[in-house]
Amino acid sequence: MKAKGIHKVLVTGGVGFVGSHTTDLLIKKGYEVTILDNLEPQVHGPERNPPEYLNKNAIFVYGNILDHDLLSRLVCGVDAIIHLAAMVGVGQSMYQVNRYVKANTEGTANLLDILINREHSVKKLVVASSMSIYGEGKYHCGKCSAYFFPQLRTEELLRKRQWDHSCPNCGNPLDPVPTDEEKPLFSTSIYAMTKRHQEEMVLLIGKTYGIASVAMRYFNIYGSRQALSNPYTGCAAIFTSRILNNKPAYVFEDGNQTRDFVHVKDIAGANVGAMEHSNANYQAINVGSGIPLSIRNLAETLSRLYDKPDLQPYISNEYRKGDIRHCFADISKAKDLLDYKPSVSLHDGLGELSSWAKTHKWGAVDSFSNCLKELKDRKLA
Ligand SMILES: NC(=O)c1ccc[n+]([C@@H]2O[C@H](COP(=O)([O-])OP(=O)(O)OC[C@H]3O[C@@H](n4cnc5c(N)ncnc54)[C@H](O)[C@@H]3O)[C@@H](O)[C@H]2O)c1
Ligand SMILES: [Zn+2]
Repeated sequence: MKAKGIHKVLVTGGVGFVGSHTTDLLIKKGYEVTILDNLEPQVHGPERNPPEYLNKNAIFVYGNILDHDLLSRLVCGVDAIIHLAAMVGVGQSMYQVNRYVKANTEGTANLLDILINREHSVKKLVVASSMSIYGEGKYHCGKCSAYFFPQLRTEELLRKRQWDHSCPNCGNPLDPVPTDEEKPLFSTSIYAMTKRHQEEMVLLIGKTYGIASVAMRYFNIYGSRQALSNPYTGCAAIFTSRILNNKPAYVFEDGNQTRDFVHVKDIAGANVGAMEHSNANYQAINVGSGIPLSIRNLAETLSRLYDKPDLQPYISNEYRKGDIRHCFADISKAKDLLDYKPSVSLHDGLGELSSWAKTHKWGAVDSFSNCLKELKDRKLA
């Protein structure tokens, strides 16, 4: 059933990975969808051609979120906005600062200026935030019975390959525990800072002007349509590209670092849920699977799924500046407020990704080595 008073929805970045799945779900539920997307070449290829999966029932407008007049026209014709357009690449943001701040922070500022100063009937604004704003996840020391929020590991420790955090009181190893929304935020990249800007700006302006708004703190999303040739984002897609090109997945540290992998269909469901329900208004909500998975395990599982079990991941024991060791989501708030329940198991989700990727091999140009070189040239890895 559709939400009361919401018929027309604008999805910015709607041609992208999350945006296209969100658009499909909205259309399936009977909403009229307009997409604004500039077909960023890093994601969609140098020709800027719309992908074949672009939903024919959506109105696609080619354009930039920074184009004030175009965005004003679109905003004034809809009842709700799901704002996903952004530059998405943690490492890259550390040497293309202006590009990230423009698309993410300024793009959102542009949208908010329009919502404040123009007449419109927008009743809901959902914005894509990210787990990257936490920095390290939450940890516990069993011996001291205390919780800790460590900052980044020092270069000295990383050089000695001491990957894990230890308790600042007793020195025992710390155990990672689910990270909840109350954890103090600590950005370790320009990308994370822009995500935090987006989240805080949207919630502040939303509260001030009574525009119901929700910030979705996505964890690591994977699934079909993730740009396979974009080496800057999404490690399931980057590993996929490597393996399909008969190269081993390149794993930093010892591979035992963990992340929370959530399937894109669950993210689309959460986006639409946040748009339709008012319980989560003016709040930031974690959206993940709630389950930690090691990067090594992910790489090995993908090698098997692509029928290349002998292509073992390359465990580099190198590190990237700004990388965290563990972070996985406490999803209680999403469960309570949005009735959110991850429905796609890792087994099924990686199956969906791999069967899609096998039929899109042509899209899997592996440019990871260039990306790694860019990081190494700047001493970021
Ligand atoms: N994929 C993840 O794991 C993840 C995790 C946390 C947060 N997020 C956030 O979710 C959102 C969607 O991410 P995604 O994974 O679908 O990325 P994506 O790159 O596939 O999609 C982003 C889309 O935005 C478009 N875009 C970029 N800059 C634009 C601009 N200036 N004007 C108009 N369109 C523009 C791109 O062409 C692309 O289609 C982003 O805001 C991202 O920061 C993603
Ligand atoms: Zn301790």
